[in-house]
Amino acid sequence: MKEETKSKIFKLKEQKNAVILAHYYTPSEIQEVADYVGDSFYLAKIAKKSSADMIVFCGVFFMGESAKILNPDKKVLMPDLTADCPMAHMVENGKIEKMRKAYEDLAVVCYINSSAELKCQSDVCVTSSNAINIVKALPNKNIFFIPDKNLGRYVAAQVPEKNIILNDGCCPVHAAITEQALKNEIECHPKALVLSHPECEKEILALSDFVGSTAEIIAYVRQSECDEFIICTEEGVLFKLICENPSKKFYFPKTKPCCTDMKLNTLEKLLDILETEKNAIEIDESVRQKAIKPLDRMLDTVI
Ligand code: 13P
Ligand code: SF4
Repeated sequence: MKEETKSKIFKLKEQKNAVILAHYYTPSEIQEVADYVGDSFYLAKIAKKSSADMIVFCGVFFMGESAKILNPDKKVLMPDLTADCPMAHMVENGKIEKMRKAYEDLAVVCYINSSAELKCQSDVCVTSSNAINIVKALPNKNIFFIPDKNLGRYVAAQVPEKNIILNDGCCPVHAAITEQALKNEIECHPKALVLSHPECEKEILALSDFVGSTAEIIAYVRQSECDEFIICTEEGVLFKLICENPSKKFYFPKTKPCCTDMKLNTLEKLLDILETEKNAIEIDESVRQKAIKPLDRMLDTVI
């Protein structure tokens, strides 16, 4: 049944000149049929460069939305439009305006995991793999980092010359990893290296051997001589980790971090939208023109 669905997906993809992009946190069956699998930064770059007529984004809403902002003339579809990142909205109304009044030279740095509405009010976007370099390169001393306090705090520690003001938002999936759960894993697997995403709480990062985006964690394992790892990020990365390193061992904190929104992407829904072309993302042009500025600034800084 799955094989039949997959072959229909491949056929339709060819016929419609569609490209399928998938985040590492989507189910493995989705990663298997995608043309490109990656972290947020990689997928944003692919979306910008794509020559396909149709972009099918398997991820959460801010990802498809960003692809549409960068490709207004293309059809951008998502298998499930309700797949949303809760963190993408976690900035209190009026907070950005208030901060701009408080600091004359303020730069609002917006993690790409955010709604178009937040991007419209921001100066530059970042992802977890480029945030440090982009913040370092800004001429501004005062930075309001939205929406993720954990990534913001991690960046602040690496760029002490800036005054980074944190916002009270976080990823509920990464923030749910507890220090005790990680300590238990370390006790069970003392030889394993701890690799963590910067969306985790500071206590987790303090116990980690390496901190990086999902793509950086995967690259770290690929080049490491160690063969046991405790992974503090969403469990979807396991698919790629096992494919690339079949003899290495991977452990997660007891309650495996799982993003239920990412898991809304299924093969059946993917096939359905390729057939029907429903679930197209539409963005108001005036919103798009404002939201593209911080995204373009990010892509121009680091491409
Ligand atoms: P990256 O893809 O940038 O590592 O971000 C992780 C994430 O939470 C995506 O939703
Ligand atoms: Fe949002 Fe966290 Fe899910 Fe990523 S893992 S989409 S940041 S809730």
